[in-house]
Amino acid sequence: MQVTTIKALDKTLNKLRKEQQIIGLVPTMGALHEGHLALVDHAYKDCNIVVVSIFVNPTQFNNASDLEKYPRNLADDIDLLYKNNSKTIVFTPSIREIYKKDIKAEDFDFGSITQYMEGEYRQGHFNGVGTIIKHLFEIVKPHKAYFGEKDYQQLQLIKKLVKITQQPVIIVGSPTYREPSGLAKSSRNKRLSNSELEKAAILFKALSIAKNNFNQLSFSEIKEEIKTLFEKEECVKLEYFEIAEEENLIPTGTKKEQKKYRAFIAAVINEVRLIDNMAIN
Ligand code: PAF
Repeated sequence: MQVTTIKALDKTLNKLRKEQQIIGLVPTMGALHEGHLALVDHAYKDCNIVVVSIFVNPTQFNNASDLEKYPRNLADDIDLLYKNNSKTIVFTPSIREIYKKDIKAEDFDFGSITQYMEGEYRQGHFNGVGTIIKHLFEIVKPHKAYFGEKDYQQLQLIKKLVKITQQPVIIVGSPTYREPSGLAKSSRNKRLSNSELEKAAILFKALSIAKNNFNQLSFSEIKEEIKTLFEKEECVKLEYFEIAEEENLIPTGTKKEQKKYRAFIAAVINEVRLIDNMAIN
């Protein structure tokens, strides 16, 4: 079932709530791929009914052309979701339905987890994500909500958001879904040619270098290796490569015993910006 208004969604969900059904939410911006379907399948393992929202959220784009070029194909998305599971409720609100007349992001304090990497390179992005997710949780009131680990900072900020807003929803992270080359599935991949897709696997290669050399090399030596790797691939421009402690997501140059680390990367290929991350120890 596709619903476009909050009122219609409420009507459907209220009935399900009365029947004590467990409701899962998978928020998306459309241009769906196997990674999204894996999130939906994950949700159906825990929930009776899954709502997938498709909404290209204007307040999380810090670049007008990125928003304009974001791939949109609603008919294909809905087809894919129904083929996957015909029970799924697809919520496709208009911008006005969500934001009324005030298309603005709220100001949140998520602390260090949103300060670096994506927070640094995409000013305002995380406030936009926090704003739309807060709205969606208020509208859908899901028992559980599912997010991919590819956007690891986003996943952590949403865990923080529900603490700040005291929304009673359990946040579930799902492993990154990858192409055979290792490239993380992303809606933005749809803007790349076959040869660019091949080249984009360099992001996964870089993260794997960090993981495979965690014990042998210092963090600055790992960064040198990554820099050299990208110097050999002219088509892909490295924006950042950072290693951060998993608990606070603050980039660091020093390896401490007992700490868990993750490597984060962003790179641009033919004006398409890709990100990825990996646990490295
Ligand atoms: O990860 C995304 O696709 C978006 O940031 C999200 C979580 C759907 C919010 O618009």
